[in-house]
Amino acid sequence: MNDNPESILKLAQAEFASIMDATELEQAKARYLGKGGAITELLKGLGKLDPDARKSHGAAINRAKEGVEAALAARREALAAQKLERQLSQEALDVTLPGRGQDVGGIHPVTRTLERIQEIFSSIGFSTVSGPEIETDFYNFTALNIPEDHPARAMHDTFYVDDAHLLRTHTSPIQIHYMMENEPPVKIIAPGRVYRVDSDATHSPMFHQVEGLWIDEHVSFTHLKGVVAEFLQRFFERKHLEVRFRPSFFPFTEPSAEIDMGCVFCEGEGCRVCSHTGWLEVGGCGMVHPNVLKHVGLDSEKYLGFAFGMGLDRLAMLRYGVNDLRLFFANDLRFLNQFK
Ligand code: PHE
Repeated sequence: MNDNPESILKLAQAEFASIMDATELEQAKARYLGKGGAITELLKGLGKLDPDARKSHGAAINRAKEGVEAALAARREALAAQKLERQLSQEALDVTLPGRGQDVGGIHPVTRTLERIQEIFSSIGFSTVSGPEIETDFYNFTALNIPEDHPARAMHDTFYVDDAHLLRTHTSPIQIHYMMENEPPVKIIAPGRVYRVDSDATHSPMFHQVEGLWIDEHVSFTHLKGVVAEFLQRFFERKHLEVRFRPSFFPFTEPSAEIDMGCVFCEGEGCRVCSHTGWLEVGGCGMVHPNVLKHVGLDSEKYLGFAFGMGLDRLAMLRYGVNDLRLFFANDLRFLNQFK
């Protein structure tokens, strides 16, 4: 066994210097300073020496011990510093790199149109309500004075869910729900998705309508025309927008009319958008049929009112100059980004 303190110290210094790992370093420490370690053994041997030798030898061993401890501490520090260095270089962030940026979304043109419609109608006293998209025959047809086997049912190419349920073909069933649950005066608009078996540039199997309904004791056809004209003028921001009612037929209104407005693209001159007529069709309307009032339990002698239904997507197309309805539902960002 090596019993020279100085050579033990040299060995320890060399060994520690070659160690690259903190756990290994602690194991090496045990070989010198631990129980049975080289320095510890030397100290144990001191007892057998006579006092003079013990003194000089003891001092030499203590110097070696201190040297080993110092070498150990220095190596510990060096290893910790290396470790930190490695970590810092691995986790380095280049704060000068340009950021990835964040793309902000926009409101869908149909939603924007709807918000605009709500704003205008709310300013003239209409609140916004909604109803289910899956309906029964009763709400979508029967209560709206379209009895079974009535040819008007064929006007709506209906998606049936099962024998008892269908996807609503218009927003008019919301009229029925609302009047069954609320007493007059009723003054609402009801926007929503509607479904019909149809698809081309101006028809989509799913599209949006906005229904209007005003029921009270003295609501007249004049109110109807006034409200619709006021709305269209404000929606298209035109002081002199012409609005024309063309006689028409809907089972749930009598009399009924088709709503036309002067073409906002050619100002009535005639262009492709208005098929050279100078007029654009935007919806249907009329005075609520007494049978509809009866179906919801209202006294048709006391109450009357009007209803209208307009194509929401159609209004959006006209306002933003979009010529294909399907673009609204294709989720193509090149199209949608233009509305931010
Ligand atoms: N529901 C009719 C349609 O979808 C529109 C309409 C609503 C007509 C209210 C008159 C009154 O064609």
